[in-house]
Amino acid sequence: MSHQKYAPAAPYTISEREWPNNRITGSPQWCAVDLRDGNQALPNPMTPSQKHRYFELLTEIGFKQIEIGFPSASNDDFTFCREVIENDRIPQDVTISVLTQAREHLIARTFEALKGVKKAVIHLYIATSDLHMEYVFGKDKKETKETALNAVKQIRETAQQQMPEADIGLQFSPEEFTDSNLDFVVDLCEAVVDTWKPEENEKVVLNLPATVERRPPNEYADMIEEFIRRYDRTDQSIISVHAHNDMGTAVAASELTLMAGAERVEGTLLGHGERSGNVDLLTLALNLQYMGVDTGLDFTNVMDVADELVELTGMPIHPRAPYVGELVFTAFAGSHQDAVNKGIQRRDELTEKFGGWKLPYIHIAPQDLGRSFDKFVRINSQSGKGGIAHVLHTDYGLRIPRSLLADLSRHVQQYADQAAREVESKEVWDVLNDVYVRLEDPIKLLNYWPRPNKDDPAQIEGEVHVEYKGETYQLQGTGTGPIAAFVKALRHLPLPEFSLAEYEEDAIGRSAEAEAICYVAMEDQDKNSEFGIGVGPNIDQAAVRAIVSSLNRLFEDRLRG
Ligand code: KIV
Ligand code: ZN
Repeated sequence: MSHQKYAPAAPYTISEREWPNNRITGSPQWCAVDLRDGNQALPNPMTPSQKHRYFELLTEIGFKQIEIGFPSASNDDFTFCREVIENDRIPQDVTISVLTQAREHLIARTFEALKGVKKAVIHLYIATSDLHMEYVFGKDKKETKETALNAVKQIRETAQQQMPEADIGLQFSPEEFTDSNLDFVVDLCEAVVDTWKPEENEKVVLNLPATVERRPPNEYADMIEEFIRRYDRTDQSIISVHAHNDMGTAVAASELTLMAGAERVEGTLLGHGERSGNVDLLTLALNLQYMGVDTGLDFTNVMDVADELVELTGMPIHPRAPYVGELVFTAFAGSHQDAVNKGIQRRDELTEKFGGWKLPYIHIAPQDLGRSFDKFVRINSQSGKGGIAHVLHTDYGLRIPRSLLADLSRHVQQYADQAAREVESKEVWDVLNDVYVRLEDPIKLLNYWPRPNKDDPAQIEGEVHVEYKGETYQLQGTGTGPIAAFVKALRHLPLPEFSLAEYEEDAIGRSAEAEAICYVAMEDQDKNSEFGIGVGPNIDQAAVRAIVSSLNRLFEDRLRG
């Protein structure tokens, strides 16, 4: 792609911009346009019954303004609009809006769709960029303005004549705002509001869209700030933004335009919409919530919402989509896993230190969205000790000793390298067993009876039955405890010298029937050591199995054959 080929929107700058110093402290008004902008871009548009469920979902989340369609352009949208009104499906605190072009017969049809409604907004749009006015519609600025104002008059008069009881509001969008001449748009919007003549306390929504994202988000913000400076009817209007995502910055653009003074945002859940979509309201709202803004939208069970959206739209969710992606609460890299683990363990301390919830490598608590850390750590060839410790702890209740972890993680990495894919926690467990539990070769433990000495119960006499190189041995040993007695007994085997280098014991699970697990490292004369693991009904049985496993690993090459 040539960098000289394109004609991006002319750079827009303003003097002494203020928005970079502003913070978003209050919630914007939200308008969900999923059922119109989102739906019109679906490969398989929703049926009226799917739209009913989607509408309900939007109200459950807390949207109070919902654009339900373009009824003069689509029979399905017309039907849906009629059903919503006739079946009294609009909650009292929700206002629906419908889109129309500035054409007489389409406006007339829009009113047919709205018959019987108590309250609604008619959303009128007309393109104001030179590109559109001249090359799509063959109109100049004057003709465009005339068309828009005629449409406003028609809407006002029809509402007064045909629906005097209803509360019909106006929304006006200069389509391609970010590619339009600002003086022209300001003049047009003022004329629209003057023509509408808002009643006291009534406000016209002026929606200033980035119909196609043609400029960086800071320039959209500049345009909004400058529009508000020049526009003279702010007390009769609500300034709204509507970002598309062609350059991938719709969320940023919406945030910056809110900093620049926009009061209302239009968008869709998960960003469904033409081309790269509309701004994703789920991400935007959760970003604001994270920054301390009470958005009034509830995403407590975000995955249920996401699942429903996938079902209704037929569109999959990218695994890395913010907040709802399958992988967004998952860390593969060992250093990240380790940091998260440490953070979780000291969560309360961190909250106190930073004056709010904070963890390394993660910006919000998955539980707040009905998600969990369960799958936070997944294992592949880049995973380290922290991740392996985490999955063995969460899935098997094991606390692997630090000194064993380094060795275990090498084995898991080797396994993952060979598998060349993500490794399940069951496979990590299998690696642990395959490598460290060796009860058969060359020493096979048959049985162990530790008994207190008849005269001195502080002394334990151990009787060990083993098979070694095909022969069965009954060995005796005495020690201060069952493990010492066992080691003494084993010394009767023709083995190289060995001693106990490390020992840790733990319980698997917390019930009275919990099994015991022991981690043991035996070392030879030259201080070479190997870990072995043993599991048993009690600590003694687990320990002797661990010792046998460790010796088998330590001496396997020297003793076999
Ligand atoms: O993207 C756009 O400009 C629109 C208008 C109809 C507001 O969807
Ligand atoms: Zn749009």
